[in-house]
Amino acid sequence: MYKFFLVAFMTVALVGCNSGDKKTEAKIDNSIKIGGAKTSASKSDLKASIARGTKVYNSVCMVCHMPNGKGVTGTFPPLAGSDWLINNREGSIRSVKYGQQGEIVVNDVTYNGVMAPLGLSDKEVADVLNYVMNSWGNTQDKMVTEQEVAAVKK
Ligand code: HEC
Repeated sequence: MYKFFLVAFMTVALVGCNSGDKKTEAKIDNSIKIGGAKTSASKSDLKASIARGTKVYNSVCMVCHMPNGKGVTGTFPPLAGSDWLINNREGSIRSVKYGQQGEIVVNDVTYNGVMAPLGLSDKEVADVLNYVMNSWGNTQDKMVTEQEVAAVKK
């Protein structure tokens, strides 16, 4: 008797799961159809990347560059409104990927410090830069991708 109930219960559970899966599949299908164009897919890619990048920023970069991205004048350069970041896309990727040291001028202030290599994966570098390039008034024309980061050499 017990066995029978167990089998009956499992059958119900399995059927339940299956129909649930089908519903989700249908929903995903629909959203792709409604979303249609490539742009909406890449918009949601960017949103997801920024969400992941927020976490990377808060755990890795915030201690130096501050929660508001303004850094500490003369010691840690700003990312918010940084002309270096805005005009130097490849250099920004390189600095976050490999670290950055030596004299640089950011918004007319000279820095000569050391940002040690941060040990991030290419994907994390892309994510955190998408966050930084879309925060505190910063805007970005083109999303940073993992492939783009992978192509940047020391
Ligand atoms: C230990 C402190 C520290 C941490 C942590 C740190 N940075 Fe930096 N960062 C610096 C310093 C110092 C410089 C300037 C180095 C120099 O003088 O050449 C710099 C420079 C930069 C620059 C280029 C200059 C600018 O302001 O536009 C970027 C971009 C940057 N950091 C992004 C990041 C990101 C993103 C993270 C986290 C993934 C991060 N940094 C983590 C200290 C830090």
